[in-house]
Amino acid sequence: MKNVYMPIPLRVRKIWVESDDKTLRTFDLEFVNEADAFDYMPGQFCQLSIPGKGEAPFGIASSPTEKGFLRFTVNRVRVVTTALHYLEEGEVIGIRGPLGNYYPVEEFRGKNVVIVSGGFALTTLRSLAVYLCDPANRGDYGDITLIYGARRPGLMIYRDELEEWEKKDDISVHLTIDEQVKGWDKMVGFVPTVTKEIAPSSEDAWVMLCGPPIMIKYTLPVLTELGFPPERIYTSLERRMKCGIGKCGRCNIGPKYVCLDGPVFSFAELEKIPEEI
Ligand SMILES: Cc1cc2nc3c(=O)[nH]c(=O)nc-3n(C[C@H](O)[C@H](O)[C@H](O)COP(=O)(O)OP(=O)(O)OC[C@H]3O[C@@H](n4cnc5c(N)ncnc54)[C@H](O)[C@@H]3O)c2cc1C
Ligand code: FES
Repeated sequence: MKNVYMPIPLRVRKIWVESDDKTLRTFDLEFVNEADAFDYMPGQFCQLSIPGKGEAPFGIASSPTEKGFLRFTVNRVRVVTTALHYLEEGEVIGIRGPLGNYYPVEEFRGKNVVIVSGGFALTTLRSLAVYLCDPANRGDYGDITLIYGARRPGLMIYRDELEEWEKKDDISVHLTIDEQVKGWDKMVGFVPTVTKEIAPSSEDAWVMLCGPPIMIKYTLPVLTELGFPPERIYTSLERRMKCGIGKCGRCNIGPKYVCLDGPVFSFAELEKIPEEI
């Protein structure tokens, strides 16, 4: 019988620095044994582990439509994330997953999708955007709009890719930074303000909203004003986790386990647990 606590070996194929302050790094990882490869959906996460350091949860930034690798973007915080930042290409780490639920791509099939994000929370939303824009899926969805903000250009993740997306006509991309800096010719202002300015139509549209708590707090009323009901606004929650599979009780919010019932929740679900929003 498969031991659900046993990590699978993954080799680091490629690493690059995402942010100019070097706190964010992206890792492309490949399975050491092809037979261990698993299917996943946008929004799911994995537990990455380094022997002697520990294990921590990270959202999958690659899309299931991208074959042969798994991508994660890691913000350096303390023990595990620092150890990940010290990894070199070719080294082997452990992974458990895929864990948790995913963005409700079946429910919003045929609808318009608005993705709103700030900082490095774009990770699993990148997975979603790539998945939706894949030629195999794009025809199943209406307009796709991305509103993404960072404090300054150097803290924006996936910059090269975002520039490519700006040129595409199957996704409408709006990038913003907090304050004007030399050379920046896109939008300026906080994500809630920019969302209000762009005013995506709420008709037949769903929102996936991930970012720092302050961004969520001020964007939510804007979305409500635009007519999005809480049933059609989804977010991904982060909580401290241990087992990742609903056994240890470390990650609960009210009666829900973030690792099992989430991390993706609608605001209609979260409203039933008032202290969480
Ligand atoms: C579902 C999920 C997806 C995530 N996706 C990503 C991702 O894509 N990229 C990324 O960089 N990080 C992500 N995180 C957060 C990441 O798991 C933590 O930053 C990491 O566990 C910190 O480990 P550490 O050993 O470096 O620091 P620790 O020593 O464990 O913690 C350092 C500080 O971070 C806080 N912290 C630890 N874990 C969490 C957590 N899960 N949520 C909030 N605060 C925490 C602690 O309270 C402490 O203050 C995700 C978390 C969850 C639950
Ligand atoms: S992390 Fe153990 S129950 Fe969620």
